Amino acid sequence: MSQPLVSDVLAVAVRRLESAGIDEARLKAEWALGRALGCRRLELPLHAREAMPLSVESMFEGHVRRLAESEPLQYVLGDAEFMGLVLKTDRRALIPRPETELLVETVLAHPALWASGRRPAIADIGTGTGCIVLALASRRPGARYLARDLRPEALALARENAAALGLAGRIEFEEGDLLEGVPPGSLDAVIANAPYVPTAEWAELDRSVRDFEPRSALDGGKDGLDVIGRLVPQAFTSLRSGGIVFLEVGRGQADAVRRRLEADRFASVEVRKDLGGHDRVVCGART
Ligand SMILES: C[S@@+](CC[C@H](N)C(=O)[O-])C[C@H]1O[C@@H](n2cnc3c(N)ncnc32)[C@H](O)[C@@H]1O
Repeated sequence: MSQPLVSDVLAVAVRRLESAGIDEARLKAEWALGRALGCRRLELPLHAREAMPLSVESMFEGHVRRLAESEPLQYVLGDAEFMGLVLKTDRRALIPRPETELLVETVLAHPALWASGRRPAIADIGTGTGCIVLALASRRPGARYLARDLRPEALALARENAAALGLAGRIEFEEGDLLEGVPPGSLDAVIANAPYVPTAEWAELDRSVRDFEPRSALDGGKDGLDVIGRLVPQAFTSLRSGGIVFLEVGRGQADAVRRRLEADRFASVEVRKDLGGHDRVVCGART
């Protein structure tokens, strides 16, 4: 039997994903097909009239089956892009989100942190894939970086990403609960995209998140602020005077986080909005 055309294989996959209720069915099918064929998604039309190579058919079929079961595209393909870096992604850690790029950009743009001649000590708490610390280490190689996570499997993934990007030598990876055990006054910046989804909202999350991403990376307790609430006083202790804490927050949480920072004697507290117009990053300086 002759092999079907690439365009026909794509059409069948799109229909299958659509009938499974998958959003952006065409886009996801195209990404998976491009990966199977070893070409970019936008180059697929060049191959449309070619026969689907037998050698990659089962790989593509496997990817479509996983997508039809609501598995996120980034887990199926095994990577995601963050701040221009390609990171390995799998179920050990949260998929890096575009909103988190604002957190990194805010850190990169903070003038006091990068004053010339300094080698700031920076901690990324809850590092997951390592996306935040890796983006910083690739752009600001002179700083000293500590990356922590409570879950050894997430740390293992972060280490793999650091090694693949040639950045492992710049970062100390450590299993640990937030900043516990970090010497007082030793840090210039604490950065965290901590879990902040209120527990009651867990059930409302998309199936692709609920059934595949680690709950411990997202569930922030009753009001979503359990972890951030524990982190703020620890950050005060671990930062030197004038050191900065940078926190990603969820919708409607910025005011509460601002109040917590001010109650814990952080000054110059600022809130930055993401591209969607939502308050997303709160930062403040330790007095
Ligand atoms: C929202 S994910 C963020 C992952 C990554 N930084 C990112 O931005 O994609 C939160 C991370 O915090 C970790 N985490 C949760 N509680 C923690 C704790 N008490 N101490 C250290 N890490 C924690 C989770 O394992 C998870 O990797």
